[in-house]
Amino acid sequence: MKYTLNVNGQSRTVDVAPETPMLWVLRDNLELVGTKYGCGVGQCGACTIHLNGVPTRACMTPVSTVGRMKITTIEGLAPSPTKLHPVQQAWCDLDVAQCGYCQAGQIMTAAALLKDNPKPTDDDIDGAMAGNICRCATYTRIRQGIKHAAGLTTGGKEVAQ
Ligand code: FES
Ligand code: FES
Repeated sequence: MKYTLNVNGQSRTVDVAPETPMLWVLRDNLELVGTKYGCGVGQCGACTIHLNGVPTRACMTPVSTVGRMKITTIEGLAPSPTKLHPVQQAWCDLDVAQCGYCQAGQIMTAAALLKDNPKPTDDDIDGAMAGNICRCATYTRIRQGIKHAAGLTTGGKEVAQ
């Protein structure tokens, strides 16, 4: 069945079975492989994308349910080809990733958090990020990265509020 999707601001048509998870549509049909397959059952967050700005598990989202919602993947998060999203920039500044496998999902969840809550507390961060698992246990740097992106830290030091 044919579906015309709004992916990273572009109209993309795919011909797949209605139950095909968005994870495989993105990776196999559209060659957007930044979205990762971790568990396939909604438990790890590696496949997180945004649907209309809301962090969503692509492995649990059949293509037939998406309609014309705005799909954003890690490839479409940066505002321009020459400028990173603040979360991406913070991840680079603080060298957050270890193996990197989970990090696209981490960044997508963090970006959605900061859009809703530009100055999150530690509890806000921990709550928002709880569903994103990192086998390398980079959680401390993820939290620092989010604070850095939010302008709550500079050079690793906390900024007084
Ligand atoms: S691959 Fe989707 S939550 Fe793990
Ligand atoms: S950086 Fe390796 S799984 Fe998160």
